[in-house]
Amino acid sequence: MPSFMEPFRIKAVEPIPFPTAEQRRAALAAAGYNLFRVPARAITIDLLTDSGTAAMSAAQWSAMLSGDESYAGARSFERFELVVRELTGYPEVLPVHQGRAAERILLGNILRLGDISVSNTHFDSTRASVEAAGGEAVDLPVPAYEGVPNQFGGDLDLEALAELLSGRSGHRVRCVVLTVTNNANGGQPVSLLNIVGARKLCDEHGIPLYLDASRFAENAYLITEREAGYAENSPRDIARLMFDLADGCWASLKKDGIANIGGLIALRDEKLAARCCEQLIAFEGFPTYGGLAGRDLEALAQGLLEVTEPDYLRYRAESARWFGEQLALAGLPVLQPTGCHAVYVDAGLLLDHIPAQQLPATAFANELYLAGAVRASELGTLVFGRRDPDGGPDIPAPRELVRFALPRRVYTASHLEYVVDAAEEVCAKAAQLRGYRILRQGGALRQFTAILEPI
Ligand code: F0G
Repeated sequence: MPSFMEPFRIKAVEPIPFPTAEQRRAALAAAGYNLFRVPARAITIDLLTDSGTAAMSAAQWSAMLSGDESYAGARSFERFELVVRELTGYPEVLPVHQGRAAERILLGNILRLGDISVSNTHFDSTRASVEAAGGEAVDLPVPAYEGVPNQFGGDLDLEALAELLSGRSGHRVRCVVLTVTNNANGGQPVSLLNIVGARKLCDEHGIPLYLDASRFAENAYLITEREAGYAENSPRDIARLMFDLADGCWASLKKDGIANIGGLIALRDEKLAARCCEQLIAFEGFPTYGGLAGRDLEALAQGLLEVTEPDYLRYRAESARWFGEQLALAGLPVLQPTGCHAVYVDAGLLLDHIPAQQLPATAFANELYLAGAVRASELGTLVFGRRDPDGGPDIPAPRELVRFALPRRVYTASHLEYVVDAAEEVCAKAAQLRGYRILRQGGALRQFTAILEPI
């Protein structure tokens, strides 16, 4: 029996498809062996992402009906702005249609050619925005020690940051970004201690500190669970401490906004906000809707209140932990400890006979699809590998991870048990699995469109 219980009951339902083994094989081949290209109608359980896939609450749906669709000065914006200000303490609030729009606008304003952005790990879209601005994205995740689970594996390596700042390239560092939680690095939280340390270094060198706050509430909850001295604090209070330490944030609200679309930039710096506003108007829309409908802003305002509820966050953490335990029992090398938004599996360990250039994480995810029409995402060499500028084989990603992302409030324990059964099937035939080669690929963010072929 699962060790957690969903703190909600179900009010609206949506049937899920059950494609046959033959249909799954055909769908995967037609998709060029890239799960992003498989239509959702051929998926039974979709753990591709926790982004934009949440089930909204009755309160959110009812708020949507009162959305104010005025072009300028909508009531819904006022509500959204108030909720964000009260949550973050940042006076300047700009809505955008999703996280990458926020990144493009803010980083495009901060960075110039040759500047460096340092992060615990830039998410792929963040890195793309840094590079589009002519900057260099430097990842300094805290080092992982083999076999020693780190409660704050999302931390930034402060020693490495101090070294970089006082070294030859120190003058090029234009901003420090903490991605909370660290999605590209196992969904692990960043500790308050680490944020304090980053703040101190930033102050010493006159550099701004920003949060990529897409999963700020989950990070805050994991601090209450794991960091000494904060067990009695509410996740909302911890979130405020996190925001207090930074100069501003951006977020994809498709995660901890518990809504299907939306994002934001929130800042202290009025002048920077004014510059961002100009681009917002050019690319997203008037500053009181920023590419969203009034009803979206209503759903987000309500979602941002619900997401810091302790019962909800406890369920998020406990369900991920239970799911991770079940996958480990099924034989998968699960990254420990689990975070909230996903369980990560090291496919490189399970499929150590497949070299990184032959995409072991993709091989695992594709086989999981064939086993039960379960869709997970690869976060290995297809996503994070570097292209060799001289046309040689890819430089592998540090790890070949597969992410089982957990959409918010969507799947129950029995859905997750079904996934565990499918994963067990894949483990049983791990030694027979073969890798993939890339037939066609685009530039940055190649994973979304690449066409592959089994080797
Ligand atoms: N930052 C982080 C930490 C993210 O995880 C994402 C998206 C973004 C920024 C970009 O936001 O999608 O709204 O434009 N992550 C999704 C994922 C896509 O599946 O992890 P977006």
